[in-house]
Amino acid sequence: MCGIVGYIGNRNAFPILIKGLKRLEYRGYESAGVAIYSKEINTDKEAGKVADLERVAEGQDQGGTLGIGHTRWANHGEPNYKNSHPHYSENKRIVLIHNGIIENYASIKAEMIKRGYVFNSDTDTEALVHLIDEIQKNEKCELDEAVRLALNEVTGAYAIAVFSKDNPDRLIGARKGSPLVVGIGDKEFFLASDASPIIEYTKNVIYLDDEEMAIMDRDGNITVKTIQNVVKTPYIQELELKLEAIEKGGYEHFMLKEIHEQPKSIFDSVRGRLDAIKGIVRLGGMSEYENRILKADRIIIIACGTSWHAGLVAEYLFEDLARVLVEVEYALEFRYRNPVLSEKDVVIAISQSGETADTLAAMELAKSKGCLVLGVCNVVGSSIPRMSHAGCYTHAGPEIGVASTKAFTAQVSVLTLMALWMAHKKGTISDGRFREIATELENIPSKIQKTLEHCDAQVKYISEILKDSNNFLYLGRGYNFPVALEGALKLKEISYIHAEGYPAAEMKHGPIALIDAEMPVVVIANNQSAYEKIISNIQEVIARKGRVLAIVSEDDVIIEGMAEFTIKVPQTEECLSPLLSTIPLQLLSYYIATMRGCNVDQPRNLAKSVTVE
Ligand code: G6P
Repeated sequence: MCGIVGYIGNRNAFPILIKGLKRLEYRGYESAGVAIYSKEINTDKEAGKVADLERVAEGQDQGGTLGIGHTRWANHGEPNYKNSHPHYSENKRIVLIHNGIIENYASIKAEMIKRGYVFNSDTDTEALVHLIDEIQKNEKCELDEAVRLALNEVTGAYAIAVFSKDNPDRLIGARKGSPLVVGIGDKEFFLASDASPIIEYTKNVIYLDDEEMAIMDRDGNITVKTIQNVVKTPYIQELELKLEAIEKGGYEHFMLKEIHEQPKSIFDSVRGRLDAIKGIVRLGGMSEYENRILKADRIIIIACGTSWHAGLVAEYLFEDLARVLVEVEYALEFRYRNPVLSEKDVVIAISQSGETADTLAAMELAKSKGCLVLGVCNVVGSSIPRMSHAGCYTHAGPEIGVASTKAFTAQVSVLTLMALWMAHKKGTISDGRFREIATELENIPSKIQKTLEHCDAQVKYISEILKDSNNFLYLGRGYNFPVALEGALKLKEISYIHAEGYPAAEMKHGPIALIDAEMPVVVIANNQSAYEKIISNIQEVIARKGRVLAIVSEDDVIIEGMAEFTIKVPQTEECLSPLLSTIPLQLLSYYIATMRGCNVDQPRNLAKSVTVE
């Protein structure tokens, strides 16, 4: 939610900020703004995308070398001009951008109004900038001290960048709950919500921790301290991120690029961890807690959105292979319903971004109850892996399209490794069975490649026929029930078509009432078990004139003769079948959305990294 960038040094700040904001647009794209110091603080803001801001600001860049920029996902106040960041204190003295929510903003605002401050926006952020101003005036201190004192008075989440025209040689950043990275160049500093705006200027970064602030001067000095005023020795890390990974590489959209990257992202996520011939899974991150994991009474999986669907696939995997009880929870529901937890529970938090506020809060609760908390995360150095006791990264590479694709299949692959590891160690599957599944997991990248090559044109053709439907139903059984949910979510997210996912057998308890000749029903039917039952479900749809699109195994002949459309995917182990059946559903949502003229990489109202509750 919201992307922030900042720069201080000798270069022209404007192009750095605009380019950085474009890279951070996945975090929000409802309005954008920059403030740059050049004799005074100049601001450009615009409701809409960063490209709209760029157009408005064209020709107005006065060459300042200190500046901050913001791309917004609105929480307090409509995404219009007045609510766009940056926000000012009185007389445009201090300027600030913010990602997060100041939860006690209403009381701060009331107090500031009482003291004569005039508010120009409906945002929570403006309360913070006036508070900093008020403190600085009262305490007669430096801006960084006023920021520190103000942050001690706010509750909620923030990543902020702030400077003042009284000291245009200093840029200040601080974070709690929302991410903030500092890039260190030669007498220059960058601030950003993630490393993507920084990568082409420097590889040296500091990931700030919660309640830490960075005070950066134009002469190359940086101080990192906590808001409790404890000075820290900053840990400077070298970025591994490559520039190509965050560019479209010839594809029309990031989403399509990311769909096509799945053979590689799964290969990278499994590589070095699995040796099917030797019959070994190595999960270095978890070995320290091996005993505790193997003795767990229960595994509780917490996640949101697509990651929650990966968690549902994991429920089938862990129960089926490792014979351990699993519960899958929406992070926010879990957090607020006083769950029964004990030290014998292992909690797995799944997240692409590693910054989802609900998941982080649920992890915190689980830790406070003594649970062992493992993370499955894609973004290295993000908050979720840092808060976990241990875990496994997915190596999907940066995912930029807001609708998650390659992160989902990478999560499922890593969770499969975890289930196999546990099953093997516990002896709940035989060595032979372990090797069969492991061998097949190694084959999955090439089978995905084959799926992509074989079904792309066919999915495009089907999308053309079905693109004007108002509703879709997705049905799946067993391992492919979560795939039905994920397929429906993808379509909703990017094409704005109403879609629901259901267990196929549950259709008769309600959704069947919706079926008529206008209703496409996507049936995921590449399971070997329950095959006849899936055929019965398909017949029930056909009997009511529903239009069936079935995802089937390559050797299928029966369903092919029944369904209006069939898409074939290679045969595989049933427990791995979600990794293949997901692919045509991702393409289906992509093509339908593009044919309807939707912005697939930045769908309306959504953001990729949800750092607010
Ligand atoms: C948002 C995104 C989804 C994502 C969910 C969880 O809603 O739009 O694509 O699945 O957050 O995000 P996480 O980063 O925790 O996986």
